[in-house]
Amino acid sequence: QNYYQGLMDYLDNRLLAIEDRMQLWHHQSRRYHSEQQDFKKLTAEVMRVLEKDHSVLFEDVAGAAGRVERAEREMEYVETWTSPRACVRPEERVLEGVLCKIDFFKLYIMLLYCVEIISGIRSVKILKRAGGAKGMWTRDPKSSKVYIFNGTSGDSLHQFKSVRDFSNSSGLDSSSAVRLNIEWTGPGSAVYNNHLFYVTHDEDVQVVKFDLTGGFVTDVAMFPLASVSPVYSLSPGTVADLSADDEGLWLLFASSESEPNINLAKLDRASLDIEQIWDTRCPRENAEAAFVVCGVVYVAYNTRLPSRSRIQCVFDVNGMVLNEEAPLIYFPRRYGAHASLKYNPEEKQLYGWDDGYQIIYRLTMKRKLMVGKRA
Ligand SMILES: *[C@@H]1O[C@H](CO)[C@@H](O)[C@H](O)[C@H]1NC(C)=O
Ligand SMILES: *[C@@H]1O[C@H](CO)[C@@H](O)[C@H](O)[C@H]1NC(C)=O
Repeated sequence: QNYYQGLMDYLDNRLLAIEDRMQLWHHQSRRYHSEQQDFKKLTAEVMRVLEKDHSVLFEDVAGAAGRVERAEREMEYVETWTSPRACVRPEERVLEGVLCKIDFFKLYIMLLYCVEIISGIRSVKILKRAGGAKGMWTRDPKSSKVYIFNGTSGDSLHQFKSVRDFSNSSGLDSSSAVRLNIEWTGPGSAVYNNHLFYVTHDEDVQVVKFDLTGGFVTDVAMFPLASVSPVYSLSPGTVADLSADDEGLWLLFASSESEPNINLAKLDRASLDIEQIWDTRCPRENAEAAFVVCGVVYVAYNTRLPSRSRIQCVFDVNGMVLNEEAPLIYFPRRYGAHASLKYNPEEKQLYGWDDGYQIIYRLTMKRKLMVGKRA
């Protein structure tokens, strides 16, 4: 009881602090008035629920605390973008006010989209069969180009103008090949805005950034690990697994051979610097692939003798999605096991590689907000 009261007080204080900040924010800019109203409604709703419904106890408190924290972070983020200071950063000086407006818009879209969680698989499309049992394919969310990595390592990849172009092509011949001077290891690459990010390793894991327009390596970052060990036990070829989205670059990896869980690192897309590292608490054992949607890691599990793979562990860097609340999602039975699953944030679909078949899963999303759940 005392503990609960303590948490209530804590939440109360945090909400008050946010309200103070919101007032400041309001003075700074009247444009965001309606968003602020929504946010106030939301915080009021949380407090109402907490006051009225003591029996729901810890789950709700934990959920609300996560949301308060997240909301605070969002407020901070919004503030940095909307304060006049944000517009005179050196890299933005050229475009001045215009860029500031665009970035705010993008940010707002991102916030809207980040309150969603995957709720199911809407449809499955088997696009083609090209290449061997293992591999990966992905689509650049910015350019719509499609990239194919056949096998578990190599010094080239295949590039197509679009999904249709790939579907229509005669396969992976030399006309679509792009050569790399540093070899890639494992189906763990990501493409974002005409830049390829991929994993290579000898004694260490390295992340390579490759400019696909210019055709040259722009950066190589060492990733220091105690020992190199595949991140998913059922996909020994995947040393580490990258995904890229509007927020940055994410790396799923195992910090050592004895590490039971999948680890997550957030990297700066421009510099490849490590910003933060988490233990997802999702076991590596029986994992076959994983992907990141807006800071939420979804891990697909299977059995050694492939059966139906399913998303059975979820980890949210913002603490907003609790693993216990995430739905168990089964993939439709296909050919074998997923060698890779790559999420495309623009289309909300997954690019899967299953025994040489290139598959597109369309996903259904739902809003992940306590208020929504109760309404
Ligand atoms: C794809 O990779 C497999 C090995 O994983 C290889 O046998 C096959 O020849 C490759 N196909 C093409 C078109 O390169
Ligand atoms: C691609 O598709 C179009 C029409 O859908 C067709 O006219 C064309 O011949 C196809 N190209 C190849 C290489 O199959």
